[in-house]
Amino acid sequence: PSLEKDFLPVYYGWFLSKKSSENLRKTGQAFLDELGSLKVFKKESKYFLPAEDPKVKLDLTSYFAKRPPGVLHCTTKFTDFGKAMGADEYAQQEVVKASYGKAFTLTISALFLTTKTAGARVELSEQELLLWPGDVDKILPTDNLPKGSRAHITLGCASGIDPVQTGIDLLEFVKLEKAGNKGDDIEEVGGGKLQYFGNGMWMLLLSKKIEVKALFSGYYG
Ligand code: 2AM
Repeated sequence: PSLEKDFLPVYYGWFLSKKSSENLRKTGQAFLDELGSLKVFKKESKYFLPAEDPKVKLDLTSYFAKRPPGVLHCTTKFTDFGKAMGADEYAQQEVVKASYGKAFTLTISALFLTTKTAGARVELSEQELLLWPGDVDKILPTDNLPKGSRAHITLGCASGIDPVQTGIDLLEFVKLEKAGNKGDDIEEVGGGKLQYFGNGMWMLLLSKKIEVKALFSGYYG
């Protein structure tokens, strides 16, 4: 057992079943296709277009070309092989050890998109929140947001953007919501209510939340 302490993953998280992952990718793709075709979006598409060539045709699928390889996942703690702050403390928690290799059901309540990332917002249950680290739900040290605010599944990143950005982008949405900017209710679309927060920040509140099956585990790279 003492050998195990030499093994800390790149990150801990929930890894979707192959089927749930494929379905969520399809749902994400349908969201991009629908959003890209909407008049309200086209009117605001300047945020996604190069300033020097704003007339170029926008294709959101190629815009978010950096898609996660393999099955989709929801990161809980980025431990960086133990180098990240709080890595050991996280790994040593009884609940983390006891949950390792166990299956969960994650609930997805919304899909979101910014000029940098596209992702799915995850609503964690009480039990799942026990696995959520205490130090990740903030951009600024002074931010005070509900536990689990950052929980997400990255669907795609724009060229030059690292996946860590998706969680930061979601926190931006949560901060705007908290500040009372509920987002303009744009319109009812296929999957739910589309909200626009300005600056190319879009969120689709799903009328029917999506449940995905996911295994709590670590990624060793
Ligand atoms: P994300 O897509 O869930 O945000 C490997 O790089 C994975 O670890 C990425 O998919 C990213 O997950 C997450 N990640 C990378 N750097 C991170 C960081 N500094 N903090 C939190 N998560 C990070």
